[in-house]
Amino acid sequence: MALDQFVSALDSMLQEACASLLEVQSSEALEQLRVRYTGAKSGALKSVQKMLGSIDVKDKPAAGKKFNEVRDSIEAALADASQRLGVGSSKQASGVSFDPTLPGLRPRLGTIHPITQTLEHLKEIMGRLGFNVTEGPEIEDQWHNFVALNIPEDHPARDPLDNFYLATAKSALPRSSGSNQVPEACLLRSQTSTVQIRVMETQPLPLRIISLGRVYRPDAPDATHFPMFHQMEGLWVDRNVTMAQLKSVLRLFATSYLGGDVSIRFRPSFFPFTEPSVEVDYWWNGQWVEFGGAGMVDPNVFHSVGIDPEAWSGFAFGLGVERLCMRRFGITDIRDLYRSDVRFLSQFAT
Ligand code: DAH
Repeated sequence: MALDQFVSALDSMLQEACASLLEVQSSEALEQLRVRYTGAKSGALKSVQKMLGSIDVKDKPAAGKKFNEVRDSIEAALADASQRLGVGSSKQASGVSFDPTLPGLRPRLGTIHPITQTLEHLKEIMGRLGFNVTEGPEIEDQWHNFVALNIPEDHPARDPLDNFYLATAKSALPRSSGSNQVPEACLLRSQTSTVQIRVMETQPLPLRIISLGRVYRPDAPDATHFPMFHQMEGLWVDRNVTMAQLKSVLRLFATSYLGGDVSIRFRPSFFPFTEPSVEVDYWWNGQWVEFGGAGMVDPNVFHSVGIDPEAWSGFAFGLGVERLCMRRFGITDIRDLYRSDVRFLSQFAT
């Protein structure tokens, strides 16, 4: 392409652009002009720039210089027009008005965490079975977490490696609720069974309570373990409470929460605070998954809170809330519940 042809193409483009930009009346029209002349894909400047390749080598510097001048002039004219129309500044020029028909910005609403939803749902089901909700502290003394639950000093469950004992100044520690008066180390409770003791110490019989909350164990996180999780504790103390009632309550609970077609089984087990004891499993994805322990309150536990085991009997259970929640929502990795990733969590909005 000859240089003079190139120059006159640029000149007429500049003329046309300046004329249109002087007349432009709205920010929409201005935006169209901006795209027409300086658009990165098919703007007029872009097309002319491509012609640069076919200019004779000796004319290239002059052509390049001319191209730059025209581009700068068009950009300056665009800037003038923007200023005149008030585009990009808060002051709207006459003729450019706020468009009330545009859709507004939707506020992003939070959703309820699946574990919170589960806690509420479990309370509601157990409430229908006559259980009252009670709360207990997450920082416990050894009396409530172990001693009163018939877990003696040398029991492996009290190992410092299996518990979060708190390194608190000795003077700040509460006196043990047991007979000795020496201050003792507190810990983050490892089970909600602590609340059984607190309730039996303070409330009159008969009792039918549940308590839901966090428990802590120094487990390495994996798909089924996390150092903090939730349990639902249950306790029913009355005259003549039986193992048959325990099994009925847990079955009713499981079918209410997991659906009528859920298979559950009871396996003989051992806990220091119940005799006999069972573990409870549900069937999921081709295997039995344990979701809690239960049993008849051990007479030693009744003794520790001053209840006569000849006159009263009771059953207790402790269920893993995450295990229940995960099965219901189809969550396969417990860690997903605690990554605080709203993209994951908001899937379970109700
Ligand atoms: N506290 C037990 C645990 O964390 C669960 C448990 C078992 C609770 C039997 C109970 C019970 O109340 O009776 O593994």
